[in-house]
Amino acid sequence: MTRFGVLVSGGGTNLQAILDAHSDGRLQAEIAVVISNRKKAQALERARAAGVPAKVITHHSFPDRQEFEQALIERLAEHQVDWVVLAGFMRVLTPLFLSAFPQRVVNIHPALLPAFPGLDGQGQAFAHGVKVAGCTVHLVDEGTDTGPILAQEAVTVRDDDDLESLKARILEVEHRIFTETLQKIASSELVLEGRRARFVGTR
Ligand code: GAR
Repeated sequence: MTRFGVLVSGGGTNLQAILDAHSDGRLQAEIAVVISNRKKAQALERARAAGVPAKVITHHSFPDRQEFEQALIERLAEHQVDWVVLAGFMRVLTPLFLSAFPQRVVNIHPALLPAFPGLDGQGQAFAHGVKVAGCTVHLVDEGTDTGPILAQEAVTVRDDDDLESLKARILEVEHRIFTETLQKIASSELVLEGRRARFVGTR
């Protein structure tokens, strides 16, 4: 069974969606470990409540990014992780980390990439005045939110939306497309042709 390691930094509603999908059988995979770079992340409580090992590796405890990433790699390896899931993980990962999990790091981003990469995708889109917002699940490469796209879904912006109402509707869609994509990763083969990604067959 595919073993996912989940990296988090904050509230962890995407992690919760993953844990819920796992517990009710929509996600047939192991959630091997959850690692937060912030001690106070609510995501840690969510992991513990679900009986998943929850660890803290703070980037402040290391002299540089490389040593921080090396510590992440070691902890993920201890838990025999096959795929790394970034669920609201707010640190950029370097080639050192990515080479330990080649084409096996997946991220959720709260905008329709390639528009509005980086921090606060929803806020950037809202401020731009888009009529269609959304979210993207993608493989992580060395750029910022530039890797091959695995899934996307649009969310219509309403005239009476404020940023909070729009964020809330995007988040609901995030939870669904992220868990569905993780199930595809766990149950089929990911084929990459250049930037184009598709899932084939079932295991
Ligand atoms: C989510 O909206 C996710 O898309 C975003 O952070 C939020 C985490 O929420 N991620 C990024 O912006 C990554 N650059 P959560 O902790 O409740 O899952």
